[in-house]
Amino acid sequence: MNLQIIVGSTREGRKSLQFSKWIEKTAKENKNLKVDLVDLIDYDLPMFNEPISPRYNPQRKTEGDVKKFLDKLAEGDAFIFVTPEYNHSLSGVLKNALDYTGYELDKKPAATSTHGSVGGARAAEHLKMILSECRAVIVPINLHFNHFIDNNIDKEGNLIKELKELQYGPHTTLNSMINELLWYADALKIAREK
Ligand SMILES: Cc1cc2nc3c(=O)[nH]c(=O)nc-3n(C[C@H](O)[C@H](O)[C@H](O)COP(=O)(O)O)c2cc1C
Repeated sequence: MNLQIIVGSTREGRKSLQFSKWIEKTAKENKNLKVDLVDLIDYDLPMFNEPISPRYNPQRKTEGDVKKFLDKLAEGDAFIFVTPEYNHSLSGVLKNALDYTGYELDKKPAATSTHGSVGGARAAEHLKMILSECRAVIVPINLHFNHFIDNNIDKEGNLIKELKELQYGPHTTLNSMINELLWYADALKIAREK
């Protein structure tokens, strides 16, 4: 099972990377999973400007980083999309990347993990709507992180002990979200292969 964690912020000094690394580290505790951190900073995606919507363009040919990004997504069986909240929504860079998708997310489960002053709740709602239009299957549990990231997760992705041990804290939610995602991933993979 190939789980991809998409890092949805590329700005200098971003906090999303250490947040994503914590998710990656936690997911890697499951030895049956191949976990891939897919960082949008590694793909030079210009502002989307194709003349035809990707899902209505059977003749579509992509190249360069757009192709590299779409080929990478196509390898995934399950996704966790990470975004900060920018102006009550997801980041522009993630929205732009999603606009490129054709059928790479088709019938595959996607969970959202967001951060911001209200845990990125508004970004999560927008992101779920967009992912649904990208043909992904939305996993209901969202990880809302409303703690100050630098004080709680180090650069290597280690969450502080107090939050790790908190009974109904973010670590518990993250594990529930991953378990839920894997349930959908198993069911949908079997169904896709039929
Ligand atoms: C352009 C911009 C808009 C923001 N808007 C919001 C917002 O609407 N709600 C919120 O909770 N935080 C907002 N923030 C704070 C970010 O969520 C916070 O800075 C977070 O660390 C950004 O993620 P990043 O560091 O990975 O880019 C905003 C930050 C930026 C740069």
